[in-house]
Amino acid sequence: MFSVTCVAPVNIALIKYWGKRHEDLILPVNDSLSMTLSTNELCAKTTITASKSFEHNRMWLNGEEVSIEESSRLTRCLKEVRRLALATGSQKVSPSWKVHIASVNNFPTAAGLASSAAGYACLVYSLARLYEIPFSDELTTVARQGSGSACRSLFGGFVQWHRGVLDNGTDSVAKQIVSSQHWPNMHVLILVVNDQRKKTASTRGMQNAVNTSTLLHHRADKVVPERINQLREAIQNRDFQTFGEITMRDSNQFHAIAMDTYPPCVYMNDVSHEIVSFVHSYNNAMGSLHAAYTFDAGPNACLYVLAEHVPQLVDAIQKVFPSDLMDSAEYLRGLPISPE
Ligand code: DP6
Repeated sequence: MFSVTCVAPVNIALIKYWGKRHEDLILPVNDSLSMTLSTNELCAKTTITASKSFEHNRMWLNGEEVSIEESSRLTRCLKEVRRLALATGSQKVSPSWKVHIASVNNFPTAAGLASSAAGYACLVYSLARLYEIPFSDELTTVARQGSGSACRSLFGGFVQWHRGVLDNGTDSVAKQIVSSQHWPNMHVLILVVNDQRKKTASTRGMQNAVNTSTLLHHRADKVVPERINQLREAIQNRDFQTFGEITMRDSNQFHAIAMDTYPPCVYMNDVSHEIVSFVHSYNNAMGSLHAAYTFDAGPNACLYVLAEHVPQLVDAIQKVFPSDLMDSAEYLRGLPISPE
């Protein structure tokens, strides 16, 4: 019997992935770019045990058993990792042995806090450790097939998921742009507006958007390629002004696409919009950009802020919003995934 335990953190997209060009392989219509959070804040933790004597593959998510067979994404990830294990892994653990997988999140599942990203990244990385598969771009293509955004959580720091052009998806990989040490004073504050399950899951929301939103196709073709280049440069130069503006514009455009979907998909609520107004007024009062928001497929806000500006921002938020709205996650140094 062999066991491995790993943790993988959440990543938060600055340029959003929204829309697939291939549903099963999870190939996106545009590149996306994210920042990975600290491992000890929002993360998934997975323990996998393989044994000759297990009769079935089994999985528990936050203590409750889930059916692997009923999830085509879980089945595909297991199959793909085993294929890599046969090709490149050590034979200490035979890929034919059944596995028991136990995974827990330390944050609300499906509340728009990227739980599937951390979960699938952790699953794929843990399996790779179990079979001693060396880390490669190909591993990101496996995590991608669990949940698109998961491929970005295999790295720390700032990460780009390249959409790729091939039909088989082998070039749709995530690559690190810079490690977390590059911009160590970058922080994220998470304002938890609502921790309920989101109304329209991302997978369904983006399917509807691809089918009905003309803005989505304009964004993918005409807006994102240039935005990615500008954001990469801003990150390289640690230029918070440009970084913040692009991030907020991309969040706004993503939610405009959600509204342009027919019927519309509404992820932000009144409190989310108050947070947007608050950030713009705050930046005006400061005389330059001190904070930037981004919202995923839910009402919760992620605010980017430099370490030296955190106390002042927290103070201003507490004056305007109730105290239970805020959780703080420190941006990480070091590698995000640590096998135990
Ligand atoms: C708004 O990766 O959850 O968070 O590939 O269908 O599992 P699937 O979708 P998922 O979508 C994430 C969407 C997003 C933006 C992002 O993380 O880039």
